[in-house]
Amino acid sequence: MTIQKAPYVKDETPRKVAYCACGQSAKSPYCDGSHARNNTGMMPIYVDITEAKKVAWCGCRQSKTKPLCDGTHKTLP
Ligand code: FES
Repeated sequence: MTIQKAPYVKDETPRKVAYCACGQSAKSPYCDGSHARNNTGMMPIYVDITEAKKVAWCGCRQSKTKPLCDGTHKTLP
């Protein structure tokens, strides 16, 4: 599991990103296919990055604006 109580802050370049929604990827916040290998029934969330920018990807998987961090991790026990 690669769930953490903090975002993954990454410098992104324009490309299509597959965000790991199941929290089992060894390459979080990016999908590595674990959702399928582990039969999670979940799918990655695809995001088109259209310009170079810093992105705070949700690491706790509880954000209401997933795949982006919305601060919910600060409220977790
Ligand atoms: S890491 Fe910030 S809301 Fe999930």
